[in-house]
Amino acid sequence: MSKVTLTVLGEVDSTMDVARDFAQEGRGEGTVIIAETQKRGRGRNGSTWISPSGGAWFSALLRPPIKQEESHRVMFLAGLCVNEILWEELGIDSALRWPNDILLEGRKLAGVLGEGLQIKDTYYAVVGVGVNTNVAVDAFPERLRQDVTTTLEYLGEEVENEPLIKSITERLLKRSSSLHSDYPQILREWESHCDTIGKTVEVDGTLAGKAISLDEEGFLIIADKEGNERRIVSGNIGYVETP
Ligand code: BTN
Repeated sequence: MSKVTLTVLGEVDSTMDVARDFAQEGRGEGTVIIAETQKRGRGRNGSTWISPSGGAWFSALLRPPIKQEESHRVMFLAGLCVNEILWEELGIDSALRWPNDILLEGRKLAGVLGEGLQIKDTYYAVVGVGVNTNVAVDAFPERLRQDVTTTLEYLGEEVENEPLIKSITERLLKRSSSLHSDYPQILREWESHCDTIGKTVEVDGTLAGKAISLDEEGFLIIADKEGNERRIVSGNIGYVETP
């Protein structure tokens, strides 16, 4: 298994871009870029990721045995690894919300992002992870404060970011080497950590129906009131209270 090498930087635009540059320069699997803050942190679907000082903001280079069009597989693996390590190392009982959110008591604690990068014959996955660790909720813009939480708020004390990041990346490296053959098992584990199935959901703000299952790739199957099923490949999911 490749070794994890941490590079800690101050303020960057996005660790995703630094990791891409490192891959172009020939750095290998296990390279991890950690930033103190990000000016242009990004989330899924072009959203902005607010990254105040104190959080665990990092990107890791992996070389999983998958094709470019299967990059969603890395995102599911990353969500699973982050959720497991938060439980094992910090005792935090967070849950996954399809497809890439990690929620604690209904608020966003962490998010993961997977981007593909082809350099000559080699396919790299750049995995981005943001965990709101040693950050006060007040450090986020007011419009987000209702929806985010942090380990500091939950535990009442700071955690060490670097050991946490190392554990997450080691788990990712270990499991990504068999991402092709183990994917059905990874999805089963992902689903067991996920609280989306069974809930009534909206997709991008529009009421969609009840989340009933994941398909074999991890896409979400939703049934509307009439029982018509549809497959959601991407989108932001919100939970809808039902009477
Ligand atoms: C999401 O929930 O939409 C994914 C958020 C991923 C954020 C992390 S922070 C480190 C890395 N650098 C980025 O610009 N984004 C990821």
